[in-house]
Amino acid sequence: MMKQFLGYITLIFILAFSFCTKDKGKLPDPMVIEPEAAKYAPVVPEGWPQPAYNFSGNPVTYDGFTLGRYLFYETVLSDDTTTSCGTCHQPVFGFSNGPSHVLSHGVHDLLGKRNAPALFNLTWSPKLMWDGAVNNLENQPLAPLSNPVELNISIGQAVTRLSNMPKYKALFKKAYGDTVINSQRILKAFAQFMGLLVSYQSKYDKVKKGEDSFTAAESNGYTIFKNNCAYCHAEPLFSDYSFRNKGLPITALKDSGQYLITQSSLDIYKFKVPSLRNLGFTAPYMHDGRFTTIEDVLTFFTTGVANTQNLDPFMATPHVISTQEKSDLISFLNTLNDYKIVNDERFKEIH
Ligand code: HEC
Ligand code: HEC
Repeated sequence: MMKQFLGYITLIFILAFSFCTKDKGKLPDPMVIEPEAAKYAPVVPEGWPQPAYNFSGNPVTYDGFTLGRYLFYETVLSDDTTTSCGTCHQPVFGFSNGPSHVLSHGVHDLLGKRNAPALFNLTWSPKLMWDGAVNNLENQPLAPLSNPVELNISIGQAVTRLSNMPKYKALFKKAYGDTVINSQRILKAFAQFMGLLVSYQSKYDKVKKGEDSFTAAESNGYTIFKNNCAYCHAEPLFSDYSFRNKGLPITALKDSGQYLITQSSLDIYKFKVPSLRNLGFTAPYMHDGRFTTIEDVLTFFTTGVANTQNLDPFMATPHVISTQEKSDLISFLNTLNDYKIVNDERFKEIH
């Protein structure tokens, strides 16, 4: 009897002790959560084209992706250690900057010249940035890292800083088998994280699979969309990833878009066609965040198009959309909001 009693006491003691050591007010370390390989396999949703970037030279693993996730939210990767990629690309805003930052806002409180775009379905975009400055997802992080108004740190400095952190030695070892930290490994891990940001679970996608149906307003909005927007914002990605001048009036920023990269006068004022998925999270809109609401975008579309150099021929004749039609179009666009991706635990901030 006494023996049994002592046994219970010991058991309770051991249990209490193990809870105490576990619970120091810290969240469980994601490195010890059992990885479920399937959750980290790149997705190509049914009926979609093949992505422009494929992972054949950079196979995604749970540990590679997790390293990329840490790096994405790592403020040590900025000059003054205040800013990370995730500062300007936040999950709740579809990995854009949110309504408080029309122009992006980086280290030392410096302002950029453009609105931070939403990040998803990036592997399908043959060129990145509003002006197409980058043509490979793997090289992309070099741009924000070295940009003086974004992170302002050389890749060499980034390697040195990470090499001084035991946490990263462990994370690189898990991802790559040894503790060597170099630029190539950093860039590949970033690509694994960003490449898995695939948005394909909106109401629209369910309707396409026959698992849901549009309301009358959404269905009418879909027709308005096909007649007025699909020419550039092509399904299923809602962008053809071309560069075009949509007719936005020129502002004081005088951003000439793709011309800055190609130096061809045929590219003046052309910007990358962004996806229309997730607009519910990604306001404000356009390369300079000039429009706060979709209503503003539609007012521009019907009455505000400016006949500037290289205006897209599709925009040259006015598009008439009634107030009712605009409201239906907005209902349709709302079916493109993917609540799964903005709430996905795999993509949330981590330190
Ligand atoms: C200070 C805010 C800021 C920070 C920090 C930042 N970005 Fe960006 N990001 C932007 C802006 C603004 C653009 C658009 C740049 C342009 O078009 O010239 C952009 C564009 C991008 C794009 C291109 C998206 C597309 O569809 O073309 C990717 C990918 C990206 N950023 C990833 C990152 C990564 C990775 C980091 C961290 C290494 C990062 N960003 C840090 C503001 C930021
Ligand atoms: C001629 C091609 C073209 C057509 C047609 C077109 N767009 Fe666009 N759209 C663009 C381009 C290019 C941009 C980027 C412009 C910029 O920022 O300078 C854009 C940007 C947008 C944005 C901003 C998205 C963001 O992430 O900032 C929205 C919203 C939008 N378009 C909605 C629509 C809707 C709704 C229609 C139909 C009523 C439409 N567009 C028709 C080319 C087009």
